[in-house]
Amino acid sequence: MSASKATQAALECVVLATSLFVAHAWAAVSSASRDFSAALRAQPDVNRGATLFRDCAACHGAGGMGSEEGNVPRIAGQHASVVIRQLVDYRYEQRWDIRMEHFAGRHILGTPQDIADVAAYAAQLVGVGPRNVGDGELTEHGSRAYADQCAHCHGSSGEGNAKDVVPILAGQHYEYLLRQMYDAVDGRRPNFSRSHVRLLARLEQDDLVGIADFLSRLDWPESHGPTSGERQQDVR
Ligand code: HEC
Ligand code: HEC
Repeated sequence: MSASKATQAALECVVLATSLFVAHAWAAVSSASRDFSAALRAQPDVNRGATLFRDCAACHGAGGMGSEEGNVPRIAGQHASVVIRQLVDYRYEQRWDIRMEHFAGRHILGTPQDIADVAAYAAQLVGVGPRNVGDGELTEHGSRAYADQCAHCHGSSGEGNAKDVVPILAGQHYEYLLRQMYDAVDGRRPNFSRSHVRLLARLEQDDLVGIADFLSRLDWPESHGPTSGERQQDVR
């Protein structure tokens, strides 16, 4: 084969590989958004959700409080729409964690209805139990930084927004919050928007620590009740 033919063959290979990769990524994104809308539209059955939640309780606890060391997040009382979004994202590799990729898989949660049911169950859990917090030295600073930069989306009390699929941050474990922010900045949490990553990347270490500590000490907002899945039907 002449040099130019070899170059051309190599180029064709690259083009093919790139288009296969793009097609694969595109298919994952479109399946993800299809499952997400189907789960949001489903009428959740909290009793079925309770049965499905038995698998989750091994790590998140029967009450959904996560682990006290803060590596497993609290999901009790989280907006159902947010739980659905995260499960779908793990399933389609838009968010990475080996444990969650397994537990959000089809062999555990077969259908979008299963995702809706387990999310509705988690959302109505009241959530009581110990919480992981920081050392308390930067909470004042964190409170100001949060009010300036985060409150307009995550809410002045960290209550998030079910309709816009913005997570509750108040009362979440300190270690978990901090790790998510580092992961996002380091490119290990692909479902964060670019503008969110840029916002976090601009903050100093003290800001991140202070914000996480401040948030972890806030009260978790009131439970939204088993109907939260239903109320979110107008989301999209
Ligand atoms: C083997 C342990 C384990 C099991 C079982 C498990 N999880 Fe998780 N879960 C985790 C860990 C660890 C994380 C944090 C991973 C990360 O950093 O992305 C997590 C994260 C999540 C999140 C994201 C929370 C947030 O604030 O963004 C949701 C939602 C969730 N899990 C729901 C579930 C559900 C529902 C089940 C059951 C079907 C389940 N998990 C089973 C360990 C587990
Ligand atoms: C423009 C709206 C917006 C702003 C401003 C914003 N966020 Fe977010 N944030 C979001 C959305 C939407 C998500 C959910 C992303 C996803 O689906 O993974 C999120 C997710 C998060 C998470 C992950 C929560 C979890 O349970 O895993 C953390 C932590 C977080 N944001 C912290 C912050 C902090 C700190 C600030 C301020 C410096 C901030 N955000 C500003 C919209 C916003």
